[in-house]
Amino acid sequence: MNYEKKILITGGAGFIGSHVVRRFLRHYPSYLIVNLDKLTYAGNLKNLEDVDQLPNYRFEKVDICQKESLQHVFEKYEITDVIHLAAESHVDRSIEGPMEFAQTNVIGTLNLLECARKSWKDANHVFHHVSTDEVYGSLGSEGLFKETTAYDPRSPYSASKAASDHFVNAYFHTYGLPIKMSNCSNNYGSHHFPEKLIPLMIHNIQTLKPLPVYGKGENIRDWLWVEDHASAIDTIFHKGTVGESYNVGGLNEWKNIDLVKYLCRLMDQKLNRESGTSEKLITFVKDRAGHDARYAIDASKLAAELGWKPSITFEEGLSKTVDWYLANENWLKDVTSGAYQSYYQKMYHH
Ligand code: NAD
Ligand code: TYD
Repeated sequence: MNYEKKILITGGAGFIGSHVVRRFLRHYPSYLIVNLDKLTYAGNLKNLEDVDQLPNYRFEKVDICQKESLQHVFEKYEITDVIHLAAESHVDRSIEGPMEFAQTNVIGTLNLLECARKSWKDANHVFHHVSTDEVYGSLGSEGLFKETTAYDPRSPYSASKAASDHFVNAYFHTYGLPIKMSNCSNNYGSHHFPEKLIPLMIHNIQTLKPLPVYGKGENIRDWLWVEDHASAIDTIFHKGTVGESYNVGGLNEWKNIDLVKYLCRLMDQKLNRESGTSEKLITFVKDRAGHDARYAIDASKLAAELGWKPSITFEEGLSKTVDWYLANENWLKDVTSGAYQSYYQKMYHH
């Protein structure tokens, strides 16, 4: 079959990547979608078991730090476009071990940029780099991050993402590589690894474990439903201007402690527990080192220029997310027990 585009999606077995792969497979049957993923602890092919039999899907278990293997995949499929999500993504892990973040997020991104630069001979391609609002640093009580806000990363994670963003921009200015970039706020939704705030709290509320809130719980994050992030990536990939970056967010700021209390009330209702049961589990613990106070995104450029807007409210999205976790206890067991490794062996090692 002659595919209209042959898109390499990196990190497609992860949280956001799996939603992007699913969306592109379903919406664009004329595109070949090659999911390239190392399958670290955060990557799980079960995230895609509802779509991995589609004829336009391929999977390659490759580490983006292995340049020759990457180049081989580019040549094998004659890749026309890239949507780059593969990354080490957890701030707490970056504080424990920053080197892996530099390797994957910086060197891995450079390897991909090099493959694209060598393989693409004209401007008829897109290299879409998926990044975070954390590159802008930490806000006080006023103001929003705009595309023009100066980069000021504070954690090893955000420093590595900022470095990768700078390399992506450098390849546009220096080599004319047709790049697009998006910087999104905190995502939540199904298939989210239970080390991040929302899935960790859902899991601990369900199993009546302590709910560890860092510091006083006063830090603020701006939450977006993961499927709305996937729709924003789709919009920017297809309609965004080459060389530009777009902020993605839903004007949805929550203090951590308010969010955790809201989740407690929601889950008490869903689990038919006496009201107040889950809140008793809240435990204030030692704060994260260098904990950014507040993130908040101004996504008006994306709304005004490309017409994107979020599809659901936070309350609707959280309710759907909790329902998904309650209905998918086995997924949680698998990602935490390593059983998905045997799934991979079964599916792909004939
Ligand atoms: P995730 O940790 O859930 O998934 C990352 C995926 O990348 C996994 O499937 C993992 O196996 C893969 N991967 C890691 N190292 C790799 C390597 N060396 N080679 C190939 N694959 C590798 O992350 P996520 O939350 O889905 O984030 C995806 C992207 O979106 C990241 O670039 C992240 O910086 C960005 N982002 C995340 C958020 C958020 O709230 N989670 C917000 C904005 C931007
Ligand atoms: P997280 O989900 O790790 O995302 P990020 O650090 O990239 O924003 O954390 C979201 C917020 O929740 C952040 O302010 C740290 C806080 N937090 C807790 O209070 N307790 C926890 O157990 C975790 C994982 C996070």
